[in-house]
Amino acid sequence: MVTQQAEPLSAPGSWASQFIRGDEVNSEIYTSPEIFEREVQKIFHATWNYVAHESEIPNQGDFVTRVIGRQPVVVVRGDDGVCRILMNRCRHRGALICEVQRGNQSHFRCFYHGWTYDNSGKLVHIPKDDAYPPDFDLESRGLTPAPRVEIYRGFIFGSVNPAVGSLREFLGLAAAKMDLMIDASPTGELFLDAGIHKSQYRGNWKFVGMDGYHPPVVHQSAFEIFKRKAVAEHGGEDSAAAQAPRKTMNDSPLAVSRDLGGGHVMLDVVPHRISEKEHHLASMRRQKDGEAYIAAMTAAYGAERASELIAIGGDPHLGVFPNLQLINQHVRVTVPIAADRTEVYLYPVRLGGISDAMNEKRLRKHEEFYGAAGMGQPDDTEIFERNTDGLQATVNPWVDLSRGRNREYVDSDGSIVGKISDEVTQRGQMREWSRLMSAS
Ligand code: FES
Ligand SMILES: [Fe+2]
Repeated sequence: MVTQQAEPLSAPGSWASQFIRGDEVNSEIYTSPEIFEREVQKIFHATWNYVAHESEIPNQGDFVTRVIGRQPVVVVRGDDGVCRILMNRCRHRGALICEVQRGNQSHFRCFYHGWTYDNSGKLVHIPKDDAYPPDFDLESRGLTPAPRVEIYRGFIFGSVNPAVGSLREFLGLAAAKMDLMIDASPTGELFLDAGIHKSQYRGNWKFVGMDGYHPPVVHQSAFEIFKRKAVAEHGGEDSAAAQAPRKTMNDSPLAVSRDLGGGHVMLDVVPHRISEKEHHLASMRRQKDGEAYIAAMTAAYGAERASELIAIGGDPHLGVFPNLQLINQHVRVTVPIAADRTEVYLYPVRLGGISDAMNEKRLRKHEEFYGAAGMGQPDDTEIFERNTDGLQATVNPWVDLSRGRNREYVDSDGSIVGKISDEVTQRGQMREWSRLMSAS
């Protein structure tokens, strides 16, 4: 442990500093349409965005449509097997060339005048082309690729900023945390093909996730039900199973909030889970196909690492700034629509190399808490909307993000650490927000 004071939330004299006072931020940053517009340009159009996972487009011709900030894109695997991000804009007069969310096509035919592109983006047909000179060059009029595309172990990131640094540099310490989800599979494969839980709320995109302070309050009733269920299944109120949710989210030194730098943050319960790995292994052995999973993991990663990965359960509880989170059994994408409108997409993850029964159990676990009928997510959505409503009272506009500033410390890897309920994560996101929003 290295004790040293973490950086302030904004550089003195920077653009962002006008909205920041120590560890307080002016609520305008959550409500102002002008600031939202600046975020689209300075954050979403300037840095890397997660756009899709390779498993969503496994076959030639498979595609999904997504956005990078406000810019529509098609993520498509061409007949040549190459995964591309193409701007979803016809090279004629600019209409969308694809309006459905996913599918498989050899070609994209523009709905307006019929210019037709193959699935690598090449312009192959113009209706009534006698109106163009013979040297009218189709080759140079293909769909425009996103300026930058890089893939980290199946996670496809794109940027509309050609000058953005490498993805690996952008991910920094977050990459090894993403591995914790990927390596829950003995084959290192994730499949985001189980459907999507989509929701929308009336509030700002910066509200989403990585808050270790709220669960005992917002999710109290859900946790109470989980506890009763665990007692019914595994006996006594004092059993490890019955205590697990409370222990994890309490202020144990083994469960911390972590600022990884670059706005990437984590509710790091990894040491806590590893400390209980015998319990997790025993419970895995009781599961259908659990023994086979342990054997496959041990063969892939060695006994020690396998037991840790099984205890971690593929849940890094990680936020990759600005739009990706890896939480429990799902990959989460935040889509900013307006200052007071956000869409949240949850992609439950199936693990490669494990039985269908185990993947099904993972899905049921996901549905328990998330989705419109889950016991947790609707509460989060509700509190975000109450937050939006409360922020309308601007007589005193300051929002306090100071929790745990007095006890945070810098870890040996350079990340900043606090207790699980401390606002280390909010401050980490805010620092990167300030840096990007203030960049010239
Ligand atoms: S805008 Fe696409 S063909 Fe005209
Ligand atoms: Fe929550």
